[in-house]
Amino acid sequence: METNRRILVTGGCGFIGANFVRLILAEQPDWRVINLDKLTYAGNLQNLEGIEEGEQYRFVKADICDASAMEKLFVEEQIDYVVHFAAESHVDRSITGPAAFIQTNIVGTFTLLEAARKAWLSGDWKGNDPRFLHVSTDEVYGSLGETGMFTETTPFDPRSPYSASKASSDHLVNAYLHTYELPVLITNCSNNYGPYQFPEKLIPLVFHNSMTGKELPIYGDGKYVRDWLYVKDHCEAIVEVLVRGRIGQSYNIGGNNEKQNLEVVTLICDTLDEKIGLPASGAPRRELITFVKDRLGHDRRYAIDASFIKEQLGWEPQVTFEEGIARTVDWYLANQDWVASVIDGSYQKYYEKMYG
Ligand code: NAD
Ligand code: TYD
Repeated sequence: METNRRILVTGGCGFIGANFVRLILAEQPDWRVINLDKLTYAGNLQNLEGIEEGEQYRFVKADICDASAMEKLFVEEQIDYVVHFAAESHVDRSITGPAAFIQTNIVGTFTLLEAARKAWLSGDWKGNDPRFLHVSTDEVYGSLGETGMFTETTPFDPRSPYSASKASSDHLVNAYLHTYELPVLITNCSNNYGPYQFPEKLIPLVFHNSMTGKELPIYGDGKYVRDWLYVKDHCEAIVEVLVRGRIGQSYNIGGNNEKQNLEVVTLICDTLDEKIGLPASGAPRRELITFVKDRLGHDRRYAIDASFIKEQLGWEPQVTFEEGIARTVDWYLANQDWVASVIDGSYQKYYEKMYG
């Protein structure tokens, strides 16, 4: 592995970003991590509890749309690597309020690319092998029927404001490669799950609702298919691409694990029943399942062909779905204070508590 890298992680207080920061700090003791996050509703400093600021780690509260702050940070920290997670990430929110998605996902990515271009291609850049890894999604490819899989050459066909904003950012990243020769890489990953996921996404929402006896809302017929990947596997794939990936290449990352939403929800309910027993009502938690009105423009099926990254970099998922769900349920059970503070909003006061 490379030594002494200075890595800018955007969105490191979100779900995947926090898991990634934790992985890097544990496995790359010679790297300095600069975690830049605006702390939107999805950013939670508690996700990094126990990590002290110092030589190995710095937290910066800033917006990726703030051009002068981004330019200043590149110079001040002499950034070698960028891993760009910061985004608005929830499809349902993009349907009710798309503006923030256009701003952060498109304008924000553009602003960060400009800062990297100015820092790295200006002539007085002193580092070596700079790399800008843009973390994107399989949703840019659109929706599949019953067969077929997304490969790296599948044409983009985004269908929600979220996926359209991510596809736009992928295009911008590619434009900076071809126009300015900015050293970029892109990863397009399937649905993640695991510790620190905000309970608006399916898996943590089902955990929270089934623990509190609330309905488990299943959109439409529940037969929508997603490919699920344990978050640590995703973070490990990102490290491989960052360090060993070919500049200019996009890599699909997936779990080889297609499931219908109903299967996912019943597995979580049954795992909870097994681990902590039935609720006081005596009824299995799966009886809380309630079919509700479908999401607008709901993509039917996503499936990733992850053979290219396996061939090129030797990466493949390590955690089976059953194992990943068991680990995730254990984590949420052991961290109910975290869930409670997210639900009651007190996690948003954590910044003031730490930084005044
Ligand atoms: P998340 O919503 O949990 O976290 C996003 C983080 O970005 C938060 O900490 C938030 O405060 C920060 N942020 C938002 N706007 C910002 C801004 N303008 N400036 C600085 N920080 C800002 O998201 P996630 O689920 O961890 O996803 C991370 C990335 O991975 C996203 O780019 C997403 O598109 C991509 N992705 C997610 C999944 C998934 O299943 N969650 C799958 C594939 C790709
Ligand atoms: P989600 O976790 O929002 O991820 P994405 O939309 O990015 O795939 O949703 C995963 C699937 O679960 C998706 O098909 C929508 C569905 N879903 C429900 O059925 N009920 C819910 O309450 C949520 C949040 C999602």
